[in-house]
Amino acid sequence: MDDSRLSMQQIPEDKPNSARMYDYFLGGHHNFAADRAAAERVRSVYPDVVRGAQANRAFLRRAVRFMAQQGIDQFLDLGSGIPTAGNVHEVAQEANPAARVVYVDVEPIAVIHSTAILRGNHQATIVEANAHEPKRILGHPEVRRLLDFSRPIGVLMLALLHFVLDDREAQELVSRYREALVPGSFIAITHASLERVPAELVTQFERVYSQTTTPVKTRKLAQVEPLFTGLDVVEPGIVYVPSWRPEGSDDVFLDQPERSINLGGVGRVR
Ligand SMILES: C[S@@+](CC[C@H](N)C(=O)[O-])C[C@H]1O[C@@H](n2cnc3c(N)ncnc32)[C@H](O)[C@@H]1O
Repeated sequence: MDDSRLSMQQIPEDKPNSARMYDYFLGGHHNFAADRAAAERVRSVYPDVVRGAQANRAFLRRAVRFMAQQGIDQFLDLGSGIPTAGNVHEVAQEANPAARVVYVDVEPIAVIHSTAILRGNHQATIVEANAHEPKRILGHPEVRRLLDFSRPIGVLMLALLHFVLDDREAQELVSRYREALVPGSFIAITHASLERVPAELVTQFERVYSQTTTPVKTRKLAQVEPLFTGLDVVEPGIVYVPSWRPEGSDDVFLDQPERSINLGGVGRVR
């Protein structure tokens, strides 16, 4: 495990944070009053945010299973979040008990709880790091211990890149990770998009997040597509997450996928 973990005492509870707000949306308990208040403000602006978070997690499960079916047995989950039902290692190791997973998150609460649930799992670990430091992450001893970069890897950047406010920086970040991967690897991305929502609501949505430690920039499809530069996007392309290889009629928002907030896709490294 990464040894730079913060203790609970060092976490500023009065500043809302997206990791803990997302945990609240998903019904988790690893959040503080300030997170819950900010999350409720988001929900009052865009009530579908809760089911949107569920739809994003459902995409995660389908994308990991898809990659496992393609033979991927090692995963790097960037901005992995606070553990909830259906974490990457659970889905991946159900498909292949030998699968290895490295989680990366910058939020101490996510790191503390991931550390706790991974205790005793020798094929999965969490590294506390900022995704903006690809060199540090890719060279991190825990990453190198579990992942073999001479073989294909599945990288997940789910609900992460909307925290990168500059378009070029977001694209370059994906490129830095892509360049470290051999052909046959995959990168899965989901990204907040409120394309079909009135502009005033989008402004209000982003305004709430601007008051947290993690401001958000929603992007339209045309701004999300460049994030997949250099990748062969697999079918059905970049779509609202419920439409990405749905598995059943009871999938969240299958009938109105744009209400899920997140666009998503999976690209194969050439
Ligand atoms: C909305 S949650 C998504 C969690 C998970 N990926 C999912 O899709 O269910 C976003 C996560 O990204 C993390 N995050 C945001 N910016 C980050 C950064 N620069 N480096 C690492 N993690 C980051 C947050 O702490 C949070 O846990």
